Amino acid sequence: MRKVRFHRYGGAEVLRLDEVAAPVPGAGEILVRTEAVGVSLMLLKQLRGAGQPPLPGSPGGGFVGRIAALGAGVTGYRVGERVGGVAAEAYAEQLLASPLTLTPVPEKVSAADALGVVHGGLVALAALRVGGPVAGASVLVTNAAGGVGHLAVQLAKELGAERVVAAAGSPAKAAFLRELGADEVVGYQDADWGAPVDLVLEGVGGEVLTRAHAALAPFGRLVALAGHGGTLDAGAVLGSMTTVTGLSMGQLARHRPELVEEVRAQLWQLLAAGRLRPVSTVLPLERAAQAAALLERRANLGKVVLGVAP
Ligand SMILES: NC(=O)c1ccc[n+]([C@@H]2O[C@H](COP(=O)([O-])OP(=O)(O)OC[C@H]3O[C@@H](n4cnc5c(N)ncnc54)[C@H](OP(=O)(O)O)[C@@H]3O)[C@@H](O)[C@H]2O)c1
Repeated sequence: MRKVRFHRYGGAEVLRLDEVAAPVPGAGEILVRTEAVGVSLMLLKQLRGAGQPPLPGSPGGGFVGRIAALGAGVTGYRVGERVGGVAAEAYAEQLLASPLTLTPVPEKVSAADALGVVHGGLVALAALRVGGPVAGASVLVTNAAGGVGHLAVQLAKELGAERVVAAAGSPAKAAFLRELGADEVVGYQDADWGAPVDLVLEGVGGEVLTRAHAALAPFGRLVALAGHGGTLDAGAVLGSMTTVTGLSMGQLARHRPELVEEVRAQLWQLLAAGRLRPVSTVLPLERAAQAAALLERRANLGKVVLGVAP
């Protein structure tokens, strides 16, 4: 089968399409025939050697596909079922996944839209639920043109936000976000981010986290989503009486599975009703390097997806 790997560390250009043996599911594993894989900043980190992955390296990530075989002891799933999940080695025609990461995917949804919902919408809506109430609120979304952010902008409007401010890195992204319903768009370098907001969904980390917290009105709420670090001063939190919370989909699934289930059902309903529009650029598996380069150049509008012929 075909699998994307890297034989040295570097940028997007190190990705190669290799012919390898198909994986065989061990006890507790599920073999999935891949339909689509999501490309995110995590890939660029892996390529640069973060965590020193052994070479050849096989990128991991979120996927949508169909179950091809069940390893010994796996229950609750059947061959042929359509699922989304996360795999340690995902950029391939077939992959191995743990049942713990899997979620059912409806039949009538395109693989790219399903990927958008499972790996972007779920995070966006869960963050809005954790940080809510949203109705009547002003909401700032950072990393707004990405896979999570462009759906967060739409969902905030859908939940009745009065004003949605989107932060993104280029004029093309600004136009994209206005088209999706953002009331205001700000650049990371802009001195003025407008009037203070009630709620921030923070998807960048680092200095942007600090700046986004400063954009909150007194008693405002910030949900930190980015796994890229950042610092907040306790005095700034105290003085503004703001609430800061994190979002980890893993923790939420472990401790609040009913909330994840509710959010997932709401997303599929919104999608079916045409009230949620996942946007993605889909490239075939053999163009993984170009897909990664889109992110490297920060030229993505919405999610970057590798489509794998079923
Ligand atoms: N907590 C959770 O459970 C969870 C789950 C999934 C994702 N996340 C997090 O949610 C955030 C959004 O995820 P995503 O998949 O939508 O976005 P992503 O694909 O990880 O982000 C892509 C965007 O990041 C921005 N960016 C910032 N620094 C960059 C750099 N050095 N190089 C390239 N691009 C850079 C660019 O937008 P601009 O050009 O506009 O700056 C780029 O378009 C991420 O921080 C991700 O880690 C969290």
